[in-house]
Amino acid sequence: MMEQVRVVLDHAGDISPISSEEYLRIGGYQGLKKALEATETIIDTIKASGLRGRGGAGFPTGLKLSFTANTQADQKYIVCNADEGEPGTHKDRIIMVEIPHRLFEGMAIAAVAVGASQGYIYLRAEYPYVATILEQALADARRQGLIGSNIMGSGVDFDIQLFIGAGSYVCGEETALLDSMEGKRGEPRFKPPFPGVQGLWGRPTIINNVETLSNLPAIMVKGPKWFRSMGTERCPGTKLFTLCGNIAHPGVYEFPVGTTIRTLFEEVGGGCPRGKKLMAVQTGGASGNIIPASLLDTPMDIDACAEAGATFGAGDLMFMDEDSCLLDVLENLTEFFEEESCGKCTPCREGNTQLLRLIREFRNGTAQEGDLNLLLELSNVMRGGCLCGLGQSSPNPILSVLRFYPDLFVENSYRKGDLAYA
Ligand SMILES: Cc1cc2nc3c(=O)[nH]c(=O)nc-3n(C[C@H](O)[C@H](O)[C@H](O)COP(=O)(O)O)c2cc1C
Ligand code: SF4
Repeated sequence: MMEQVRVVLDHAGDISPISSEEYLRIGGYQGLKKALEATETIIDTIKASGLRGRGGAGFPTGLKLSFTANTQADQKYIVCNADEGEPGTHKDRIIMVEIPHRLFEGMAIAAVAVGASQGYIYLRAEYPYVATILEQALADARRQGLIGSNIMGSGVDFDIQLFIGAGSYVCGEETALLDSMEGKRGEPRFKPPFPGVQGLWGRPTIINNVETLSNLPAIMVKGPKWFRSMGTERCPGTKLFTLCGNIAHPGVYEFPVGTTIRTLFEEVGGGCPRGKKLMAVQTGGASGNIIPASLLDTPMDIDACAEAGATFGAGDLMFMDEDSCLLDVLENLTEFFEEESCGKCTPCREGNTQLLRLIREFRNGTAQEGDLNLLLELSNVMRGGCLCGLGQSSPNPILSVLRFYPDLFVENSYRKGDLAYA
């Protein structure tokens, strides 16, 4: 199998995840040490690296830090988004289980950069064993003076607490996450104000994904030029790719941004099991676009994906072999979104229910003339009219199947429907 390029997962699995001593031995906490010595240069270094958020939206990390750094407040927070609710994504779990001190170090660097003294890790409820590891590793870091009061003897305080969610996909959306932490029902907020200026309990709050924060230590130690030597011009660095579905070697692998889907499918994942042919790939998670096997040479990069009609998202790839039924897949995905919609806005609350009804009509062969137009119209209304990314992107898989397999709905559905009515 191809050699991985490990930055975030460097030494992951080689050392005890709990022991800060072992992490220190492999050069850990050197990025934080550097950050504490040259606080005023941290944000410029991160900006120069070109790091973009790895949670799905790809927002420039240095720019986000600068908004919070420039906002005056008596208290600021760093919140690590470890909700990882996207079906098919489990990359953040690997970081937290195998090398959690790199995440703590990244959070501390971000805290020093913006002047925050408290951090939280918002962990999905479905990861109880991850919580155990994080609690033990946090206690160990606190004992070693790496987090807590007077970190590394610098006079700076920064502690991290674990917050366990209640098992909701929408609480991965940054403002719903904040409401959930504040003890409210987890529903997205209207923006602005953005969390960087007015976040947790009204205070400026940095919210970043686990993988994003885990990139900061190496950037601080090795510098932006080194970071830019990997990945693409507009999205430098590596990415953790989650390969799942009909693939011989499913798992999480770290490669430079821009690695093609073909390389990940053939050389890393070993192709479909039992010699089956690949039919389609869902890119970027459950709300990402489904593309045909003919687009396998698309590089996994934000811009290249957008250009090809694929989705970069959090770097997930779900492979579907020749025996898969895309209408079954769409039904399954839409059921998930219908179930997880928080119900705050009408186009999503009602829209996902209607999308599911229509997909089932097509799947069962009972769709009527006009249903295809309805499906298209509703999808477009939802993309433009929903409050948050859940409702805005839940029609994506459907629209991509309509684009790349224009005959599928008609062939599989009307024909059966006609027969049923005959
Ligand atoms: C429905 C929904 C679920 C989300 N789930 C997650 C998640 O589990 N983890 C995550 O990091 N970001 C998630 N996001 C994106 C966050 O809102 C936010 O963009 C991200 O945490 C920012 O971090 P980053 O800049 O480091 O990527 C989700 C967004 C939406 C709309
Ligand atoms: S789009 Fe859906 S999940 Fe998002 S706020 Fe509206 S109802 Fe809630």
